[in-house]
Formats: sequence, C-alpha cells, structure tokens
Amino acid sequence: MKNSLFLKDLISSDDISSENLTVIFEKARELISLVKQKGGDNRLQGRILAALFFEPSTRTFSSFITAMQRLGGGIIPLNGMQNTSIEKGESFEHTIRVFSSYADCLVVRHPQVGMPQIAALVASVPVINAGDGIGEHPSQAVYDCFTIVSRFIGKSRLTVSLIGDLKNGRTVHSLAKLLPKTGLKINFNFVSPEVLKMPPEITGYVKSKNCPVTETDDLLSVVGKSEVLYVTRVQKERFSDLGEYEKIKNYYVVNRKVLQNSAKDTVIMHPLPIAAGEISDDLDDYPGSLYLRQQLQNGLYIRMALLDLILRDQ
Ligand code: NCD
Repeated sequence: MKNSLFLKDLISSDDISSENLTVIFEKARELISLVKQKGGDNRLQGRILAALFFEPSTRTFSSFITAMQRLGGGIIPLNGMQNTSIEKGESFEHTIRVFSSYADCLVVRHPQVGMPQIAALVASVPVINAGDGIGEHPSQAVYDCFTIVSRFIGKSRLTVSLIGDLKNGRTVHSLAKLLPKTGLKINFNFVSPEVLKMPPEITGYVKSKNCPVTETDDLLSVVGKSEVLYVTRVQKERFSDLGEYEKIKNYYVVNRKVLQNSAKDTVIMHPLPIAAGEISDDLDDYPGSLYLRQQLQNGLYIRMALLDLILRDQ
C-alpha cells in the first residue's frame, strides 16, 4: 500500500484514514520484530526530531525520543521550554520557525488547543501533535487502536467504554474519532459525571459513523457488557477551581470488586498517568490490565512507525 503519510502533519485523528491505519499497523508489526531482534537500525540516520514540550510529559516525550534513536535519527529533546528564549518573550511562531530550520520533524505539546496546528502552518517540516490542551492526542489514539485491534483479532464487534474525564481528556477525544476507522463495529459507552461529559461534537461525529453511543454516569452498568474499559484521569490542570477537582477526582475507582461481573476477555486500558487512584494498584498485575504492558509498549512501536512513515518515502 502507498505511504501517504510521507511529510504529512499529524494534528488530529481527522488526519488519519482507515488506509493509513492499516499501513501504520503493518509498519509497527515490522518494527516490533526489528526491536526484538536487533533493538533498531539506522534507517533515519541524518534526520533530526525536535521534541518541543510546553507541558509536562513522561511517556509521550521519552517514547518519541527513543523511537527516533532506535531508528538511527538524532534528537533535540526539550521536555519543558523553561531554558529557551520563550522565557525571554520570544513568540511561539518564531520558536517553531527556528526549530523547523534545524530539524526534519517537530513533535509539539502545548497547554492551548490549536497550537500544533499553528506550528504546522508556520513550520517547513512535518508537525506531530503530542497533545494540545483539551483538544487531541492523535499518536496516543493510534497506539490505543493498535492495542485494541491486536488484542481482539477475529472479533468484528466490540463494546468500548470510555470512562472518566471525557470533557477535558484529549486522549479520549482522539480515540473516539479514530476507533471507527479500524473497521471494527464499535458500540460506545461514554461514562462520566454530568459535568465531565464528552463534547457533543465528538459524540455527534461518532454517531454519524454509525457507532451507537450510550452516555451514562453509572460505571457498574457497563462493566459486564464491555470488552474494553478505557479509564482516564480527571484532568486537574484544566480546573480553575481546585476544590471542584478534589470533589470529583475519585468519582470512579476501578478495582477488582468493580470488575467482579466483567467478561473473561475484558481489558483495562489507561493512557497514564494514573494520578488519583482511578485504577487501584491491585489491578496492575491483573491479566486484563494492558496499561503497564502492551498499551505502553505499543506507544514506542507506533511512534517508531509514524516517524518512519512520515520521514521516509517508501
Ligand atoms: C495523556 C495526556 O497527556 O493527555 N498522557 C499521555 O500522553 N499518555 C493523558 C493524561 O495526562 O491524563
């Protein structure tokens, strides 16, 4: 299949087609073997990735860096912009132009929605959105889809419950939009307290793709009917009133008791970090828990696949 991702920006799940997903997943499978056999190779030698993180990150930052290094590329790793001229008042646009003249690809995380899109307009090289405020986080969605597709080979229909802060969680925004493109028939449950509901435009989009959606605040009502329980953290940094956050941060706690009536093949996913006990520690080694295993590992392989496809014509 043709690589139509070459030199393209990745700002939103809207930028990824079903065909793109097939190509990315195939590439990821090739790279899983490569990493297992040799750790990596030099296919991106001579290419440089600038990771520009205006917001904290553990996994997204380090997995993009590792992905580039495993493919032989170089890096400009800025996890936090405190020691750059942003501190002196240099504009976002100028900063992006500077790095786009040094690097072949920019990975940008920013607290404000839309900034990676602005970066893409200004930059002369491809830009990957690594999370923009309460907007999107498309590379996370690609590896979440890959994790789900790989786990449920042979199934054509799945019930996926997205749980927690669906209003502010950018991972679930991107995931809800991308999952219908996997070719699986998805039934969604959007499980949140009333004040943290999924934005109506995303619910509307998903319905327009013929995915039935049930919106509820009752976690127990969906547990027994879900193949995927995708739990999210209440996004503290998006609350202006921290008292409100404290009241709602433990609205859901997924533990072994909650899972009593789950099906044998139900999996628990979380983009991480687990920050307020929304999944209890006793689930870390539960057989269906993927968040510290396959889901996490796939973050590296999918980011390797994305960089390879974006940076090399093939
Ligand atoms: C997520 C994010 O930054 O949106 N983290 C990540 O990249 N895995 C989820 C979160 O912070 O809750």
